[in-house]
Amino acid sequence: RNRWRLRRSSSTQGKSNELASCLGDDEDGGGRRGGLEGKDPETNDPVHLKRRVGLVSGVALIVGTMIGSGIFVSPTGLLIRTGSVGMSFLVWTACGVLSLCGALAYAELGTMNTSSGAEYAYFMDAFGAPPAFLFSWTSTLVLKPSQMAIICLSFAQYAVEAFAAECEPPEHLVKIVGLLAITVILLINCYSVNLATGVQNTFTAAKLIAILVVIAGGSWSLAKGNTQHLQGAFKMLDETDTLTIGRLATAFYTGLWAYDGWNNLNYVTEEIKDPSKNLPRSIMIGIPLVTVCYALINLSYLAVMSPMEMIESEAVAVTFGNRILGVVAWLMPFSVAVSTFGSANGTLFAAGRLCFAASRQGHLLDCLSYVHVRRFTPAPGLIFHSLVAAAMVLSGNINSLIDFFSFTAWIFYGGAMLALLVMRKTRPNHPRPYKCPLVIPIFVLGISMYLIVGPIIDKPQIEYLYAAGFIAAGMFFYLPFVKYGYVPKFMGIRGQRFSSDVIGGGTNSRLI
Ligand code: ARG
Repeated sequence: RNRWRLRRSSSTQGKSNELASCLGDDEDGGGRRGGLEGKDPETNDPVHLKRRVGLVSGVALIVGTMIGSGIFVSPTGLLIRTGSVGMSFLVWTACGVLSLCGALAYAELGTMNTSSGAEYAYFMDAFGAPPAFLFSWTSTLVLKPSQMAIICLSFAQYAVEAFAAECEPPEHLVKIVGLLAITVILLINCYSVNLATGVQNTFTAAKLIAILVVIAGGSWSLAKGNTQHLQGAFKMLDETDTLTIGRLATAFYTGLWAYDGWNNLNYVTEEIKDPSKNLPRSIMIGIPLVTVCYALINLSYLAVMSPMEMIESEAVAVTFGNRILGVVAWLMPFSVAVSTFGSANGTLFAAGRLCFAASRQGHLLDCLSYVHVRRFTPAPGLIFHSLVAAAMVLSGNINSLIDFFSFTAWIFYGGAMLALLVMRKTRPNHPRPYKCPLVIPIFVLGISMYLIVGPIIDKPQIEYLYAAGFIAAGMFFYLPFVKYGYVPKFMGIRGQRFSSDVIGGGTNSRLI
């Protein structure tokens, strides 16, 4: 009966005023709200997201999101940008180490503050509302949807290619399939958290099998003595080429895209069972696993293809499959499709929680903080993200977006390291179930500054300025709409104002 009723979630800080707003049918109308407001009608508990993510799902949410299209496609870009096989291998491994260090720092942050929303929650604690708002603004409008769009477009490319045989897949077909993927993933995530984590676990297992196939093929080829491409590894492929410090940073961007998703579990901390144990454990299992897989896959590619062939290939994994899988060569594009679908699922799962966490604090439209009353999924947040991602899929060429995505993302990853350092000073006695060595955040902060400045020095491009400008432009929205609580009528939320205690206090916005 109340299937589509959505309730404002209760805040984790327990200070929420659980005023309900309903969408859809409201048979018991306002009259019965008193008893049910913001409550699960069966248990009468406040409606919030349930703890359903255990260790296996936690590892799957990290591994399954990190392994998407990157490892099957990016080796080419990395080889071009580093200029030599040895250097590209070093950068692949360094990206893994950097991701692990970043994630260990996030483990400290995530066990200190177990609210969902990752950087958003940590910025709120360490720096207060304005930086947290700028993060949620950039992340909900650009970062998360662009991740989703890039991954769904890659999914579509490979799904279509699996059927299109030799010819280049038509662009509009790719876009339609990309949109379909977003829709299916959205439905899964709105329907149930268990279904979404089930899909994540299954697809993670499937992609790990695909990776094992590649590694087995590569090892077999190496065992037969095909080691010639690994010799003289540090010789530049093009002798006239030099690797500058700035160019190295862009090579890192390519590699780090393949590793992106290492912080994914921090977005859903409120749903992890026993987060102070399972968050650090999932990180310590998941990220080294991905790093080892990526290193071995790179060796496998080189056991089967020359570096020049890799550079010419559109998708190394597919070329690899064509070389050694014979009649089952279709397995490779199919595996990339499976891998990207799973990664997109994990991305949306996390993105919905970010939207939910930020809107709960009055930093985004209030209705985005609602949780479906029976399904316990943050449906409006998920729908909002999917719509923005769909618009990005329609509007175009996503490839160049990866660089600007990484540039913007690393500003915030660096910010989170700073947040950790600040809180070590301002909250020295706050319980820290997991405490990472101090050098880790300092190291990651240093690298993130290099990653932000390096590419600009290497090749100043106006897009970097746009990205920085977009973040700063958030202030124009923050001041009137959040700080001073003006809510324009066109937003359709009648009479709603954000009270000033929303800003730092962790309460929900109010309906007056
Ligand atoms: N690493 C993934 C890939 O190679 C992309 C992950 C996007 N990031 C995220 N947080 N979901 O395709």
